[in-house]
Amino acid sequence: EHGLHAAAFPWPHEGFFSSYDHRSIRRGFQVYQQVCATCHSLDLVHYRDLVGVAYTEDEAKAMALDIEVTDGPNDEGESFERPGKLSDKLPAPYMNEEHARYANGGAYPPDLSLITKARHDGQNYVFSLLLGYREPPAGISVREGLHYNPYFPGGAIAMPKMLNDDGVEYDDGTPATEAQQAKDVVTFLSWAAEPEMDERKLMGAKWIAVMSLVFITTIYYKRWKWSPLK
Ligand code: HEM
Repeated sequence: EHGLHAAAFPWPHEGFFSSYDHRSIRRGFQVYQQVCATCHSLDLVHYRDLVGVAYTEDEAKAMALDIEVTDGPNDEGESFERPGKLSDKLPAPYMNEEHARYANGGAYPPDLSLITKARHDGQNYVFSLLLGYREPPAGISVREGLHYNPYFPGGAIAMPKMLNDDGVEYDDGTPATEAQQAKDVVTFLSWAAEPEMDERKLMGAKWIAVMSLVFITTIYYKRWKWSPLK
């Protein structure tokens, strides 16, 4: 069964020449870190990836230092704990899928690295899903441990409603309404799934500019060469 189809929202980075809203990526990271990271990993993102995108190198280093990473083997062949560094991934909440399911009543919180691409109409879907928790309509009952959400295929999801007004604290002072958090975390996840988008569009724009010049020069040259024959 399909979920309710999400409405189309005007993501500012969707335009042909538009880049991501990097302040929104930064706020979205804060939503991920303060809310989603309790249950969802983000395996494809390293601290260094945030540098120059949403954080300075010093900020990213400081955040990495806050985590403990199991590394090894050392000279004695043992593993050891060390503070994180820029090359480390964001920490995963669970050791493996079994552990994750055990902690979530059998349901599996998927890795969110590619979620906006893996789901049909991913950005609008995740945004709608996060804001889509309702009382079930009369006549619909939802099994114990599940939550009614018409955007989730089947209409009952194991993830509880996660976003609430002021549930996170933004370091730029933006009022953290539920909808603001949903928008920001989706922007962050879109960036995580396609970090090269800004670069790709910039290259595209440069390519168009160069090819326009080539085209104009070609026409001019052709007219010039052919002018004695007119
Ligand atoms: C599933 C996003 C926080 C537990 C999902 C899905 C998304 C998502 C997109 C996938 C739905 C699908 O498969 O189509 C988020 C975001 C969060 C967040 C953006 C932060 C704002 C959490 C937290 C928990 C959690 C904190 C645990 C308390 C789960 C579980 C599922 C799930 C168990 C699987 C649901 C099922 O299969 O029924 N989440 N999540 N999520 N999430 Fe989250």
